[in-house]
Amino acid sequence: MKPISPPVVFFLLILLSSATAKHDSPSSSIVFTTLSRLEIAFDIYALPIHLHPPSISNEIQITDSSSVNYNGHFPSISTVQSLINGTDSTPPSIYLVYVSERNRSFNIYLDALYFDAPSLTRSRSALQIPIRIQLPLLNSGESVDQISMKDKPTLVGHTLVYVSTHENSSVPRASWAAVYSTSIKTGETRRLTPYGVADFSPAVSPSGEWTAVASYGEKGWDGEVEELSTDIYLFKTLDGSDRVRVVEHGGWPTWADESTLYFHRRGDDGWWSVYKASLDESVVVIQRVTPPGLHVFTPAASLGCKNLIAVATRRPESEFRHIELYNVDSGEFKELTRLVSPKTHHFNPFISPDGIRIGYHKCRGDHNAYKTRTPLLLESIRSPTPEISLFRVDGSFPSFSPDGNRIAYVEFPGVYVVNRDGSDRRKVFSEEAFSTSWDWKRKGVVYTSVGPTFSSEGTKVDVISINVDEDDLSYKKLTTGGENNAFPSPSPDGKWVVFRSGRSGHKNLYVMDAVQGEKGGLYQLTEGPWTDTMCNWSPDGEWIAFASDRENPGSGSYEMFLIHPNGTGLRKLFQSGLAGRANHPWFSPDGKSIVFTTDYAGVSAEPISNPHHYQPYGEIFTIRLDGSGIRRLTHNSYEDGTPTWVSKFIDPVDVARPNKGPGCEFEDCHWLRITQNNGLQVSNLSASKPQCGA
Ligand SMILES: *[C@@H]1O[C@H](CO)[C@@H](O)[C@H](O)[C@H]1NC(C)=O
Ligand SMILES: *[C@@H]1O[C@H](CO)[C@@H](O)[C@H](O)[C@H]1NC(C)=O
Ligand SMILES: *[C@@H]1O[C@H](CO)[C@@H](O)[C@H](O)[C@H]1NC(C)=O
Ligand SMILES: *[C@@H]1O[C@H](CO)[C@@H](O)[C@H](O)[C@H]1NC(C)=O
Ligand SMILES: *[C@@H]1O[C@H](CO)[C@@H](O)[C@H](O)[C@H]1NC(C)=O
Repeated sequence: MKPISPPVVFFLLILLSSATAKHDSPSSSIVFTTLSRLEIAFDIYALPIHLHPPSISNEIQITDSSSVNYNGHFPSISTVQSLINGTDSTPPSIYLVYVSERNRSFNIYLDALYFDAPSLTRSRSALQIPIRIQLPLLNSGESVDQISMKDKPTLVGHTLVYVSTHENSSVPRASWAAVYSTSIKTGETRRLTPYGVADFSPAVSPSGEWTAVASYGEKGWDGEVEELSTDIYLFKTLDGSDRVRVVEHGGWPTWADESTLYFHRRGDDGWWSVYKASLDESVVVIQRVTPPGLHVFTPAASLGCKNLIAVATRRPESEFRHIELYNVDSGEFKELTRLVSPKTHHFNPFISPDGIRIGYHKCRGDHNAYKTRTPLLLESIRSPTPEISLFRVDGSFPSFSPDGNRIAYVEFPGVYVVNRDGSDRRKVFSEEAFSTSWDWKRKGVVYTSVGPTFSSEGTKVDVISINVDEDDLSYKKLTTGGENNAFPSPSPDGKWVVFRSGRSGHKNLYVMDAVQGEKGGLYQLTEGPWTDTMCNWSPDGEWIAFASDRENPGSGSYEMFLIHPNGTGLRKLFQSGLAGRANHPWFSPDGKSIVFTTDYAGVSAEPISNPHHYQPYGEIFTIRLDGSGIRRLTHNSYEDGTPTWVSKFIDPVDVARPNKGPGCEFEDCHWLRITQNNGLQVSNLSASKPQCGA
């Protein structure tokens, strides 16, 4: 019963169109940090719904432990069989559509698995490897080839409905997330979201006629990082027409039938809860269905069983996000994943059309059916410009040695140095420190700031230099007053270091002697009752780039500025909308461009559908020094930050990080923590099997 290769005809890849136009920077590499991302090794798993209590032996790992796989959807068997043509008509044991970040980019895949003895509830060895057919669903076409985040797929017949971020919103701080449909047969792609609007979390109705989304409509993003202020809209899946707002305030819609939607929202009492919207009346009737006392979110309705929904929960007694079933008629919850893997976060459940299986994703850890985790030091990311090799590093505040062969970075706590091939990783400083930079002239000299990040002007933080090539790792304190002296960046002649300091009561920029520190010479470069910070000295010595809130001190909004080291020539280089953020500028090796992190592209997914990110809007961009040529390099719903740029072109392949400890060390959304239970009774758990019907 070995299935033959799929008959689906894929088109030759049409090479990147405009993005291949020669950029004026010579070949180089950019390395940046993504909060927790290299700890997140998601795979999609499934449990049977009607077997209770479930145990670990009932759990099937569906995806193959390659890269990061999440936000699954169970299509119908007829859809799958028409795409995957076996040598006989034996249907696959299990099949799945999902998002994957394998192959340096995002794509949506269909996997069909054939176990030798298909059976739903039979326990199987975790080591049983099925025969797998795997199809990337987006293969060609002007839109799908472009680099973008892809998310939340639904496959109905041969139409794939999903989110993509490939179209520039052209408006600062307006998300690029929009819903598209692609015909798997022809590759024809259609944008379903109107221009000027961002849509998230699409859900297609059982008949396929309607798609529901969480959307900003015309109102736009206001910097939210917990609950997005979205409403729920419907439109025709065919062409996006008949768009109508049906629910004010809500996200993550799911269909129980053609006229019943469930969705989540954070209620006035502070609890995330699931609500029901009945659409068959002349007025939409909205009803809260889950009780206060626990957070309940990311619902998934069951087509076969209208009173049963799958949800993720955070309960007062648990630090972990778990998947449960909830009977909307009886008000009873049924725990599932806590009984299987209690100390793991589980995300974004979905139910099979026949109502027998529930899927979700979680971090696979070391115990998975396929290969063991290969921890990475550098993860290669597909770059929109082939001359720039783009990497995510497993550490914060990376910087390259001038020869491009070594990377210094921060873990909390400690400063590390590693060869860029992953070898010879060493801890060079063990206390809490942040930001790193290398001296251009004195080999092996690394600057950092010792103390806590994000603290007030008076907090004890001092700039030091470490000679990482000396056996005793001697270090030198360059500032001593502890007035939040941070973000050191040396001049190319090796004589000076620019840094920010809170010594005047405000964080402004100062320049000091690189060898002797402030005792060897010091001057104040910027001055004013605001914050100037995150400074970087250009390779030609002419400019210092920095981030500042000087136009609206204390607002949390940061713009990027340039100033000559002699204090002249101050100008604003970039602003992200009226209240946006542009941080961590770093010059290109030729000094003509800057890489930085910004909220310019808004957020790309509902933050609650992901692990914790302080700034889920952080994406990496470059801009020329004259303010032209802004370009987005990263597309995802993670927090990307602290980029660095080196003249060496590093081969765009992953670099392993040997001897890395256990993975999966990421946190759930901090704002879902329940600090007190407000005296509310925790909802009842049912000991019986979940029932369809009352
Ligand atoms: C499946 O394969 C059979 C024989 O190889 C062929 O006749 C049939 O058209 C195929 N079906 C699809 C949907 O490709
Ligand atoms: C990986 O992505 C490239 C485009 O960057 C594509 O040409 C190639 O076919 C993909 N490989 C696989 C195995 O999907
Ligand atoms: C300040 O430095 C810039 C750039 O090096 C230079 O063009 C300018 O003449 C200098 N101005 C003064 C007053 O020294
Ligand atoms: C977005 O499009 C506008 C107008 O076409 C263009 O000026 C701008 O550079 C683009 N921005 C990005 C980040 O691609
Ligand atoms: C839980 O069960 C008790 C006893 O059956 C009942 O009195 C109470 O109302 C239930 N609470 C909730 C939140 O359903």
